[in-house]
Amino acid sequence: MTEYAIETENLVKRFANLTAVNDVSLKIKKGEIFGLLGPNGAGKSTTINMLLGLLSPTSGRVLVNGIDVHKEPARAKESVGVVTQETVVEPELTAEQNLMIFGRLYHIPKDELQGRINFALDLSDLKEFRNSYAGTFSGGMKRRLETAKALMHSPPVILLDEPTTGLDIQNRTKIWNLLREINSKQNVTILLTTQYLEEADQLCNRIGIIDHGKMIALGTPAELRQKIGMSTVIEVSADKEELVKVGQIFKKVGLEPTVLSNKVSAPGGESAVLKVEKLVSALTASKVKIHNIAMHEPTIDDVFLKLTGSEVRDSTGEMTGAGPAALLRGR
Ligand SMILES: Nc1ncnc2c1ncn2[C@@H]1O[C@H](COP(=O)(O)OP(=O)(O)O)[C@@H](O)[C@H]1O
Ligand SMILES: [Mg+2]
Repeated sequence: MTEYAIETENLVKRFANLTAVNDVSLKIKKGEIFGLLGPNGAGKSTTINMLLGLLSPTSGRVLVNGIDVHKEPARAKESVGVVTQETVVEPELTAEQNLMIFGRLYHIPKDELQGRINFALDLSDLKEFRNSYAGTFSGGMKRRLETAKALMHSPPVILLDEPTTGLDIQNRTKIWNLLREINSKQNVTILLTTQYLEEADQLCNRIGIIDHGKMIALGTPAELRQKIGMSTVIEVSADKEELVKVGQIFKKVGLEPTVLSNKVSAPGGESAVLKVEKLVSALTASKVKIHNIAMHEPTIDDVFLKLTGSEVRDSTGEMTGAGPAALLRGR
């Protein structure tokens, strides 16, 4: 038995002349909650689809529970539950009927089926909606029903592609709790993709940051923060026209600024407080108008910024102008 639930070795996927996934090697241990974090177009879904055997890699290998997905697709699939990026619940069936059909597809024995349905409805907090049509559900409820579906055949591994994109914070929290519960109580290994920095930070034991198909960082949230060697981040937000001037003032007081779309950011270093004092005096003297000045512990978006030199992009490649602990923009 392997200690890894998921392994990829030098995984590559090319579409014509675009390399969507570029040499990704990953080892996810059984029992982990692993987050693949990256902006739109980073290669997250392509990676997940190769893990599921839905796409063949251009090169490289994928193992799920030690089984080669492309050599033995049926066996590999048995051990995996999936929540894809698109909604796939049947709108004309009730929550319970959706789960029933899925259970039959997976050949769950008849005498176990009702018990499993109850369990899945309970976990996903949909018990009171068991007889409601899935078509009437909110986005968050549909997502929860899909997660329940993925758990019906009690797979040891589940893959979720952006399970919370576009959901409000209540629904996001419900899905997080559901995932934490199956992870801790049933030792289900979870691989999820996300555009949300905060989600990766709070939910995942380990994070892989993917950008342009390349894994640019891998580690626990704490390791990632350490890796960039930042103890404190200093930020000044201001109107767009003022940002270049603000950046120059940062330099004057010995800070190394990155000018973003709505703010200037710099690692504070050892004497961050002293530098902030100098910065405030210099800003006041210059009469540059600012909105806010702040110091905070580095977040995963500071890590992203430091590693890529850019804010998280949206689908058009434009900067999102996202603030600290903000989200990568949804589709
Ligand atoms: N079937 C396909 N044919 C051509 N290009 C594709 C295909 N699927 C994805 N891509 C491209 O590969 C890149 C990665 O896409 P994807 O894996 O969907 O990113 P993510 O899920 O991180 O948003 C994008 O540039 C996307 O346009
Ligand atoms: Mg995707």
